[in-house]
Amino acid sequence: MSTIDSVLKETRLFPPSDDFRRRALVPSLDAYHALCEQADDHYLSFWGDLAREQISWKKPFSRVLDDSNAPFFKWFDDGLLNVSYNCLDRHLAQHGNKLAIIFEADDGAVTRVTYAELHRRVCQFANGLKAQGIKRGDRVVVYMPMSIEAVVAMQACARIGAIHSVVFGGFSAKSVQERIQDAGAVAVITANEGLRGGKSVPLKAVIDEALGLGGCESIQRVVVFQRTNGGASDWQEGRDIWWHKLTEGQPEQCEPEWMNAEDPLFILYTSGSTGKPKGIQHSTAGYLLGAINSFRMVFDYKPNDVFWCTADVGWITGHSYVCYGPLGNAATQVIFEGVPTYPDAHRFWQMIEKHKVTIFYTAPTAIRSLIKLGADFPNQHDLSSLRLLGTVGEPINPEAWIWYHEVVGKGRCPIVDTWWQTETGSVMIAPLPGAVATKPGSCTLPLPGVIADIVDESGAPVEPGKGGMLVIKKPFPSLVRTIWGDPERFKKTYFPEEFNGKYYLAGDSANRDEHGYFWIMGRIDDVLNVSGHRLGTMEIESALVANPLVAEAAVVGKPHEIKGEAVVAFVVLKGQRPTGEDAKKIADQLKSWVAHEIGKIAQPDDIRFGDNLPKTRSGKIMRRLLRAIARGEEITQDTSTLENPAILTQLQEGIR
Ligand code: PRX
Repeated sequence: MSTIDSVLKETRLFPPSDDFRRRALVPSLDAYHALCEQADDHYLSFWGDLAREQISWKKPFSRVLDDSNAPFFKWFDDGLLNVSYNCLDRHLAQHGNKLAIIFEADDGAVTRVTYAELHRRVCQFANGLKAQGIKRGDRVVVYMPMSIEAVVAMQACARIGAIHSVVFGGFSAKSVQERIQDAGAVAVITANEGLRGGKSVPLKAVIDEALGLGGCESIQRVVVFQRTNGGASDWQEGRDIWWHKLTEGQPEQCEPEWMNAEDPLFILYTSGSTGKPKGIQHSTAGYLLGAINSFRMVFDYKPNDVFWCTADVGWITGHSYVCYGPLGNAATQVIFEGVPTYPDAHRFWQMIEKHKVTIFYTAPTAIRSLIKLGADFPNQHDLSSLRLLGTVGEPINPEAWIWYHEVVGKGRCPIVDTWWQTETGSVMIAPLPGAVATKPGSCTLPLPGVIADIVDESGAPVEPGKGGMLVIKKPFPSLVRTIWGDPERFKKTYFPEEFNGKYYLAGDSANRDEHGYFWIMGRIDDVLNVSGHRLGTMEIESALVANPLVAEAAVVGKPHEIKGEAVVAFVVLKGQRPTGEDAKKIADQLKSWVAHEIGKIAQPDDIRFGDNLPKTRSGKIMRRLLRAIARGEEITQDTSTLENPAILTQLQEGIR
């Protein structure tokens, strides 16, 4: 990749108000720079001190970083701790009666649990898991709706040292099966059904289907939380057990399993540039430190805050800023079962008003979809409790940023645009809201202790305004430790030879402006970002070619007003190229097929049929041409290496 020229248009600057600044943890740019300097000059003691201050250790560590086997870094590796102890037990004396979770169900029913109550539930469930033979090091798949129980399940796994692998409830049976197999999971924790937007979402039925696909013999137990009255018809005695039976009579105390700092805390699968999702493996102590510290810094956390992150626990954001970061800080948070537009588009704003939310963290795609419905909805609510807003998962376009700032934040609330990834475990680049003035569309500056840069292919930093590859130049505590079962892929993907195996390659392109602010430009690999969710084009292609009708498929992204990016598939069928009604029928069939193979989130918006795909003489699909066609752009690129130029006209004609 040669450096990409970037055009910077956004020049508006939004400094925090004096009032916000005065109360902030890091109250000025100078204070931010001082922290960065301290971190740069004394990197290990910077992180070591934070780890001692913010984590309660059973046995303290004696060494901060072991980099002797880079890039398999070890942090705090002879320390002993338990994550659930850090999220619950240590708060009990002071905050036992403080609200941990305000849960609002799809139908509006609200359940509140204190830290003491959450601790009790986690202990009982952890004891229940142990009674079923689930033990330290076992992998447990969690396939749950947004609920208090989802958090209890994750915390209980952490308590007994089992490694959870949460799979987003929208993924298909096949995706669940693949993840169970790859992780060699011994148990699944699920619910009979979920409830979203007034409709029930099958969960246990998907698990039954996944296990029925075969190859999941490692699974011994399926624990089922009863959320509704339906959805549990195919009950298998001996394998399936209700959540309430599992916890019945279990003691309310459960001694935490003391884990080594480097023991895996969880695996979370994410898409990469091959057909197979990667099991991102996070550590116990380093990850926890990242979640706790970034929560405190980025959200400028105060003990009386009411925090609401709208992400599902199936994604990394739901791990770090629902399950671990807020609880690690003894914060009060809102968890929401439903969707922003049910029963109508008042929902988010109503909830902010009702629960007096002070910090609201959501995805640009949600903001864009609410903008479409108009400012009338937020304007009818008292949003004065809000003091800080955040975004995550994808670039936010300046228009959406300004709307968020003015209509939701009433011009009072700083917006933290947080750049990070499943792999980084916690926020890496974001404005510290009392210190860094924001610019719409920029995630601004790295957190202290994060050494980020933008480099060219040789690893040399690019000059301001020039695009390049976003890298992190020093190991940091919450970074992915390996890809589950595939350390070679880990090394090749994230610490490539081109940079002497020294830099973490994020997979994003970015540029920096004259203030050193980072602007994320997009992925440099074949990964799409649809509604803030990562999707590998190869995964969708593999799903398509698994259909008996399909001979070949190529998947690219095209810009989408709400989702950010939408999936477009170019397909060659085994038989004749369909046209007219036939084409429409088969396209619909293939869309449902992808939804069934991977999940609805991967369903193409658009499928086009060709007799062939544009290829070079050596047989390589020319994706850049497909991208141009998908966007409806004129093809100005060089097509001289193309084997079959006529195909371009055919594919262009197929545009609907
Ligand atoms: O391309 C970047 C984009 O999302 C990718 C990471 O996706 P995932 O692992 O699913 O984690 C999403 C939640 C942290 C990144 O490589 N991305 C994430 N945050 C931003 C972003 N792009 C622009 N701005 C952001 N704030």
